[in-house]
Amino acid sequence: MTQPALPHVVVLAMGGTIAGTAASSTDATGYRAGTTGVDAMLAAVPEVVTKARITGEQFAQMDSSDLTDELLLALAHRVDALLARPDVDGIVITHGTDTLEETAYLLHLVLASAKPVVLVGAMRPASALSADGPINFFAGVAVASDPASAGRGVLVVMNDEIHTARDVTKTASLSIHAFESPYGALGVVVAGRPVYYRGVARPHTTQTEFDLAAIDTLPRAGIIYAHSGLDERVVSLVEAGRYAAIVHAGFGNGTVSSRMIEPLEAARHAGTVIVRATRTGSGHVTAVGASGSVVDGWISVDDQNPPRARILACLALTVTRDPAEIQRIFDTY
Ligand code: SIN
Repeated sequence: MTQPALPHVVVLAMGGTIAGTAASSTDATGYRAGTTGVDAMLAAVPEVVTKARITGEQFAQMDSSDLTDELLLALAHRVDALLARPDVDGIVITHGTDTLEETAYLLHLVLASAKPVVLVGAMRPASALSADGPINFFAGVAVASDPASAGRGVLVVMNDEIHTARDVTKTASLSIHAFESPYGALGVVVAGRPVYYRGVARPHTTQTEFDLAAIDTLPRAGIIYAHSGLDERVVSLVEAGRYAAIVHAGFGNGTVSSRMIEPLEAARHAGTVIVRATRTGSGHVTAVGASGSVVDGWISVDDQNPPRARILACLALTVTRDPAEIQRIFDTY
């Protein structure tokens, strides 16, 4: 009896620690990210051929801390083109963990396909004792090649857990259990197969209003991190008026220091969208906040962390500049 053909998974390699090497196998910190190529990764994990027919593509070879919005958008267009091909069943993106959550979230909102797209990374370089890259890569291919993963939006697979790109955050600097979601993982990888326990409530991929085909550049957006003693001149230092959006990572429920209100308002009048987020690491930012720290026309982030709020602000601005509409977008996704 002939076996059904294995799914075809394209592996897009971006670099990162998963492709990093150090001089010594006991050195898991003093290494260079993105030094080995996709072929080396495929050779190191030949077991993936039990899950899928694999095509490897070296999209970038970098430390993800150097990722630009231009390259991020180019990656989205490349993934979109691959997903449109009938011979491609799923995508695995190997990526540095430092900005993996931003890449995953942008793709989650702009890829109009139900085919699985999975991001994986590693906390230890490929040369390290007990490197986590090979098992994360194998698990990523297992998830991307399984029909149960279709229609769940973009997924992040790390340390045998499957997370939705909407929620997942890097929460540790060195531990291999570095990725967590505030409401828990969607599922786990057990014996080389994905097992799901929950779905994603907010719209993604095929359900969003963002039209990747019409986006050839992302509006410029940045983050200001609140701290005691924050100098209000920081807003002019970052040329606020030339930013399409500023996410203010504020205190508690998105609280903005009274010193910051005037410069942020000046930036808003110069055309910058002001988005209130929180630096606390979790929880909602409500439209009505602590006394005096909310101004009409400012946006509150729902529960998004500042890096993902920045991505969502960029995408919202490709659709509208109306603050009420931007607030609707934040409350929707
Ligand atoms: C990077 O993000 O490229 C380096 C760090 C990592 O992958 O863990």
